Amino acid sequence: MNPSNSSHQELPQYPESLWLSTTNLPSFPRLAEDIETDVAIVGAGITGITTAYLLAKAGKDVVLIEAGQILNGTTGHTTAKVTAQHGLIYHELMSHFGEEKARLYYEANREAIEFIRDIIGGEEDKFGLKLEDAHIYAQQDNKYLSKLEDEIKAYEKLGIPGEWLDSLPLPIPTLGAIKMPGQYQFHPIQYLKHLLEQFQKLGGRIYESTTMDEKAETDGPITLLTKRGGHRVTCNHAVSASHFPFIDGKGLFFTRLHVERSYAIAVKPETAYPGGMFLSVDEPSRSLRSASYNGEELVIVGGENHPTGRSICTHQHYENLEVFAGNLLGASAIPFRWSTQDLITLDKVPYIGPITSHQDRIFVATGFRKWGMTTGTLAANIICDQILEKDNRYADVFSPSRFKADPSVKTFIVQNAMVAKDFVAGKVEMSHADISELKAGEGAVVRHNGQRAGAYKDDKGNLHLVDTTCTHLGCEVEWNEGERSWDCPCHGSRYRYTGEVIEGPAIEPLKQLDPES
Ligand code: FES
Repeated sequence: MNPSNSSHQELPQYPESLWLSTTNLPSFPRLAEDIETDVAIVGAGITGITTAYLLAKAGKDVVLIEAGQILNGTTGHTTAKVTAQHGLIYHELMSHFGEEKARLYYEANREAIEFIRDIIGGEEDKFGLKLEDAHIYAQQDNKYLSKLEDEIKAYEKLGIPGEWLDSLPLPIPTLGAIKMPGQYQFHPIQYLKHLLEQFQKLGGRIYESTTMDEKAETDGPITLLTKRGGHRVTCNHAVSASHFPFIDGKGLFFTRLHVERSYAIAVKPETAYPGGMFLSVDEPSRSLRSASYNGEELVIVGGENHPTGRSICTHQHYENLEVFAGNLLGASAIPFRWSTQDLITLDKVPYIGPITSHQDRIFVATGFRKWGMTTGTLAANIICDQILEKDNRYADVFSPSRFKADPSVKTFIVQNAMVAKDFVAGKVEMSHADISELKAGEGAVVRHNGQRAGAYKDDKGNLHLVDTTCTHLGCEVEWNEGERSWDCPCHGSRYRYTGEVIEGPAIEPLKQLDPES
């Protein structure tokens, strides 16, 4: 295809996920009283909802609590590939953990795929479930070609179905690719809305707009406290299924996770899409899959990953995807654009299980590294078994306590702490914009009364000024132009331009400053 033939289409003015805008989700009340339950689950994304459903089905009394709105976090902004092909991973897992654990990682993800398949049953169309081959490919970097060669050898050793390809069924130049057949794509929110309805039918309770603040010390039942009004949730087991664990429990999760932002656009292609799911393993990162929308086929083009809060112009990332999509398939319309944040662990394997080896009634599931459809599902199955005191053969692979004796982790923690320190007030090199030069819809870091401050001029020309010190642990937030939010580079907290928290781990808003003072 000749790139010059591609038409230029406007990106939508505001970010909006294809999945959220094509599903009517119910809303739920804020928790306004003290309650008791067997299991309290904090975070209503794929992990929280699936865990809630499984435990309610097993006869437990379960309460699901969400700080914002259900499914509005990472799950609502995924590209929703249901696959065990998680980029380049199996060769690395074999080197770090050995053959047996690498195989268990694959099998756990494969079981998660079957779990989703079983829930959907024969209703594939309703949930947009489609059987697809997944592909990873190297674009231009020979270093990544040899990584792909190592990866296919790992597939062979582990018995993972895979096929080497010298070219892709798309006009993308490639040095080589690996196809994993028999994977799926689906509509994640339709699927989870269905699970949520099943959970409610089983007697499950759901609360939204309820931020859990801290755990009250107790030897008996666990007591969680809500931030507003200080209502108590008393339970026998608690599950942190929020993006960043809502309680740390001395698990040092802040030092053991890093945050990456990535972007997606949904385009109406001018040339036929051949089907399949694709992911580049080298830079720039690119991801492709199809989706249906109003009876037409869209192609979701994703990529442009970068550490949160460390990108100068986030809107540029959408534009890069737009150019890529236009050159590859032509784009007659771009109805949706959205972005998301993913947490990544030290060894790329999620943390799933008891929060520490001494605390076996509080569970955590985090660090899904963009593969939350399968890992969120397998996390729910592992935690459900652990609460029901059943053996789960995958539990050790994902245990958050697996690093206990590993000295390399100590080094990482020191390095990570130093990176964070650089972002603490006064340590960041920054250029300051002039408030008077801000146009409507623009935000920037400015100087206000000699201090670093965050300024945003809304569409009516009103100025909103905030203190840029993140209320979590004091790093400096940066302006995210594409999403019109203040993002923290340290652990990924995000705030509205007015200062309210969009995503934790921060709980408190950014301090508002008076533009007149
Ligand atoms: Fe941790 Fe900002 S300091 S999210």
